[in-house]
Amino acid sequence: MPWNDNPFLAQGLASTTLTPLGLRVVSARGPWLQTDDGRLIFDAISGIGVSNFGHQHPIIQESLRNQLDRHLHVMVYGELLQEVQEQAGKLLLETMPEVLDCVYFVNSGAEAIDAALKLAKRVTGRTELIGIRGGYHGNTHGALSVSSNESRKARYRPLLPDVLFLDWNDQRSLDKITERTACVVVEPIQGDAGVRIPHESWMHALRTRCTEQGTLLIVDEIQCGMGRSGKTWAFEHFGITPDVVCMGKALGGGMPIGALAASRDNMASLAHAPSLGHITTFGGHPMACAGVVGAFQAMAAVDQRAQEVRMAGWQRRLEAHPLVQVVRRMGSFFAVELDHPDRVAAVVHKGLEGAPGSPGKGILLFWFLSVPHAFRIAPPLTLRDDEAAEGLELLIDTLDAVQST
Ligand SMILES: Cc1ncc(COP(=O)(O)O)c(C=O)c1O
Repeated sequence: MPWNDNPFLAQGLASTTLTPLGLRVVSARGPWLQTDDGRLIFDAISGIGVSNFGHQHPIIQESLRNQLDRHLHVMVYGELLQEVQEQAGKLLLETMPEVLDCVYFVNSGAEAIDAALKLAKRVTGRTELIGIRGGYHGNTHGALSVSSNESRKARYRPLLPDVLFLDWNDQRSLDKITERTACVVVEPIQGDAGVRIPHESWMHALRTRCTEQGTLLIVDEIQCGMGRSGKTWAFEHFGITPDVVCMGKALGGGMPIGALAASRDNMASLAHAPSLGHITTFGGHPMACAGVVGAFQAMAAVDQRAQEVRMAGWQRRLEAHPLVQVVRRMGSFFAVELDHPDRVAAVVHKGLEGAPGSPGKGILLFWFLSVPHAFRIAPPLTLRDDEAAEGLELLIDTLDAVQST
């Protein structure tokens, strides 16, 4: 392994890839990352769907500062009441359907999924778990078990037993949901599969089949939630009410936190027989909850209509570019397909290097784990018109530069 070329491994930090982008970031504000060599990089992916409200949003910063002066961690989750957790829970539940009236704050998206799988086993007394082909739910053993990309799972088997998969948008495969099935886990917009948007009729049929079989429908809003799709939660586009909603990423406004929402009756099953059915030291950390409070307040100020106009403009320019084959988009969440994975790599690297027309500036784009011939775009929802125009020019200049090589 050529570890001395790897900027993480070379200094004893774990690396997730042998070829990290390796930019050294010194500060970030709005949609811009500043690097140690003085360049400004337009963050067109929001840290993979985390900085939905840009970097250093003043409302989020203020909420964090307020909490910093009060207290940090005081006790494992679920024993001592803390005002900031209550505030975060209230704001979150105001965005949920009425039946989902209880939230459990955990530490990450994958932990929210794992807790939701456990909850489904408790509520139904069943063991079978169902995922969807193309789905991605995280990297713990539980979340990986219901994720579909076999090439990323094979070396970690055995994973959880009794897991099946349904085909995306396929009505017939819904027959696999039976009275043995504890839950189905679905992303209302599949992120890692390249922003795949389901048919509304399929989402309805999935909801109906789960209800008929007494199966919990768990919706993974970790990447497509918090305004990313144009609505607060992506499931709202499809007129369904899930049994459990898993959240993470942008939920904390840049702080690490995950959450699951369910009914109080269902959630109560984690508190008895046995008690402490899911416990976490840092879940609902006060600073992370302050991030949640700030994130919901920042989201309330987002003008989704204006953002839709900006993003529709990005889509038109992208679709008109000769290098681009297909654009899939919902709200501010895009997959851009090119003709070959090598072109995608060229675009990502050229973006960081900066196109000739914009010295000292670049743009951060990124891969999908499971769609090698496409790249993702997910800019902050708080872009001003001038920032959106500049980001788009950087993007198009990058595509032009790759096309001319
Ligand atoms: C849809 C979806 N679910 C779950 C996760 C896992 O979240 P985390 O990385 O916080 O564990 C991700 C992360 O990319 C995701 O995109």
